[in-house]
Amino acid sequence: MADADPGLNWAARRRQQARAIQRRSAAHAAAGTTDMAPAPFVNRAGTYTDPVRFAAERRQLFGGDIPLVAGLSRDMPNPGDRLLFDETGVPIVILRGKDGVARAFLNMCTHRGARLAIDCTPSARLTCPFHAWTFDLAGNLIGLPGARGFEGFAKADLGLVPVPCSEWQGLIFVQPRAGATPVAIEDHLGEFAPELAQLELGRAEPVKAGEMRAASNWKFALDTYGESYHFATLHASTIGQTHFNDMCVYDRFGPHHRVSFPDKGALALASQPEADWPEVDYGGVHYLFPNTVLFIGSIEPGKGFTQIFRLFPGKSPGEMVTKFAVYAPTGVQSDQHRAECEFAFDATAQVVSTEDYVIAANGWANMAAADPMTPVIFGANEIALSNVHRAIADRIGLSLD
Ligand code: FES
Ligand SMILES: [Fe+2]
Repeated sequence: MADADPGLNWAARRRQQARAIQRRSAAHAAAGTTDMAPAPFVNRAGTYTDPVRFAAERRQLFGGDIPLVAGLSRDMPNPGDRLLFDETGVPIVILRGKDGVARAFLNMCTHRGARLAIDCTPSARLTCPFHAWTFDLAGNLIGLPGARGFEGFAKADLGLVPVPCSEWQGLIFVQPRAGATPVAIEDHLGEFAPELAQLELGRAEPVKAGEMRAASNWKFALDTYGESYHFATLHASTIGQTHFNDMCVYDRFGPHHRVSFPDKGALALASQPEADWPEVDYGGVHYLFPNTVLFIGSIEPGKGFTQIFRLFPGKSPGEMVTKFAVYAPTGVQSDQHRAECEFAFDATAQVVSTEDYVIAANGWANMAAADPMTPVIFGANEIALSNVHRAIADRIGLSLD
């Protein structure tokens, strides 16, 4: 799509884009069409079940070379606030320093390896629960009881082990491996950067967080966020009532994408002059490669919620966890707004857990029992899925054929 005018402020850019998506939604609603890939795509069951591919994904997508979202800035706004990031299998603690900078470290004592931060209780320092070595918020060792036993060691050499951490436009990214080469976030995002920057995630206030698990491959679970072809059947009593089935407005930005699913109100727009259209808030599903989905939803004009889903592979191809959180986009406006954001969390968690992830689990069980070459067909209408799988395959260097 055409670049937005860089002179616009973010709110104006969102309005402009919301209108552009509204236009495309109205056209699809009137014609009964949807954005589509040039052709269907045949994936294979083995993409979800092969342990070699799974190991490559863990290593090359989640092993430190790619910045992964660990949270939002307001999850840890003040010096001494901390976040834990364990989901890749490498325990990480992120600390907000006195200088306001977020830094990430292995959550491992440099004495004998004990876990340092057990929870997210803010603190001006980290004291190891084993022998009380103490570290400041920049990772320096500042307390070493019984120092006589450590002659020959300089405190300056015993600081926490850092891992790359960047805070960009309200998102906190971590590359969870000591010694990983830091990646500039704008290089990782490429042309997707302004699409995320316009969300102004630095203003988003956390409201509720939790996790959802499925006995499935992480990619099968991820696929459920990318198409509306299942709304009328799997979600017949919820989003299937309010939104068109099998209709999307899709834009790809390198390995990332945005996909919007038109609501049924789009049909009425086609018969009205555009000047009479209601102004709608910007929204949609934003997929940040490889594992993060940001959904911008609206409660009523001017009042919305932001949901973030971060999907991680478990220890085997058939295990995964989703870290799920909801935020008030520009802060909680009222008690009612807080309740509405909490409802958005609870209702979504209910649908995802009892509908999408049930399918993810029973479908994966079928695939695990099937020949690895069994076709898994992505229709041209499931355009986001084929592009995500191609991007993952490209990155790990294993073809989908
Ligand atoms: S392991 Fe941390 S102080 Fe000993
Ligand atoms: Fe779904």
